[in-house]
Amino acid sequence: MKRPWNIVNPAVYSLISYDENDILNMNICSYVSAVSLKPKLYLIAIDYSTKTYKNLKQNSVVVLQLLSKSHLKIIRKLGKLSGYSYNKEKYLKSKGILNDWEKHLVLKNVCALLELKKMSEINIDGDHAIFTFSVSKFKTLSEDSVLTFKDLIDNKIIL
Ligand SMILES: Cc1cc2nc3c(=O)[nH]c(=O)nc-3n(C[C@H](O)[C@H](O)[C@H](O)COP(=O)(O)O)c2cc1C
Repeated sequence: MKRPWNIVNPAVYSLISYDENDILNMNICSYVSAVSLKPKLYLIAIDYSTKTYKNLKQNSVVVLQLLSKSHLKIIRKLGKLSGYSYNKEKYLKSKGILNDWEKHLVLKNVCALLELKKMSEINIDGDHAIFTFSVSKFKTLSEDSVLTFKDLIDNKIIL
């Protein structure tokens, strides 16, 4: 039997963050939740050891991408390699899989996009910091084919 947190089926997201030179980085994240109705607020847990965490200390605007099943092939690159040692912007540009949205370069074929602004950071006794965000812009592009945890398990990408 799988452990309790592996038998639920959360959506899989990628967070775009920016360094001090506005070079973008993308991770994979599933510790993501909407936590307020009005205004709409999001909470995302970010691993302290990642480039995404460093970028969040430098830049408060990020873009949260709700991924679709078409992104299965890039999960390993974005979610298992770090922007500290691998230039993900260069990789994504070379693959021709970026689009423009509201002055951001985002992945093609996402289900939804949210531009978020960092509000606060909560440090708990764990390996992730919890960030709260307000939503400044959003767009739904497709309600179908949302990428989920189960898709990653079925394709032997995780577990
Ligand atoms: C399915 C999946 C879910 C993940 N969820 C999170 C998450 O919620 N928060 C997080 O910080 N990292 C999460 N990760 C790990 C990061 O994506 C990973 O550490 C990545 O290499 C970080 O890249 P960076 O150093 O370029 O930011 C997840 C990875 C996978 C494959």
